[in-house]
Amino acid sequence: MKRDIGWDEGSARLHEALTGYGAFIVAVDADGKANPMTIGWGQVGIVWSRPVFTALVRVSRYTYGCLQASETFTINVPRPGELKEALAFCGTKSGRDCDKAAEAGLTMVDAKAVEAPIIDECALHYECRILARTQQESSDFASGEVLDRFYPNGDHHLIVFGEIVAVYADD
Ligand SMILES: Cc1cc2nc3c(=O)[nH]c(=O)nc-3n(C[C@H](O)[C@H](O)[C@H](O)COP(=O)(O)O)c2cc1C
Repeated sequence: MKRDIGWDEGSARLHEALTGYGAFIVAVDADGKANPMTIGWGQVGIVWSRPVFTALVRVSRYTYGCLQASETFTINVPRPGELKEALAFCGTKSGRDCDKAAEAGLTMVDAKAVEAPIIDECALHYECRILARTQQESSDFASGEVLDRFYPNGDHHLIVFGEIVAVYADD
């Protein structure tokens, strides 16, 4: 049974996942296919006086186009230690080439308040409505060390700010 929780109540579980095997972002492509992608970077916090999930998605990802084509996304956090194979699959295969949800055995179910679905097998869900998208470029970086280490071939991140409109989790 999942119950609504406050926007920051799941932060410890989210951070454990992001620093471990990852969590899933789900966005819908222009044809309506929901695509799950593993993320390791992301933040929950306050922007524009409201709770926001900030995701960083590189230009090369299929998810990048999904986030440009649609107005919502969900973040789905597995129970600790679960869905490792699905996380690895969705973190190495592209929705350009296959239906990742079907191949990874993930069940997409309707979200409560946004178009993008949630992953039923996960334990913690954030439903987000996109407020802004900001494309990073080389000139943005004050740190040459970060630029050289994380962007040796370009492929910068799109920073997507999603207002958190619902959060719920297993008891
Ligand atoms: C643990 C883990 C964390 C990852 N975190 C991110 C991330 O935060 N941003 C990103 O753009 N790619 C990240 N990736 C890489 C994408 O998940 C991967 O390139 C994926 O195949 C892209 O899928 P897509 O083409 O269907 O969007 C991560 C991969 C793994 C395994």
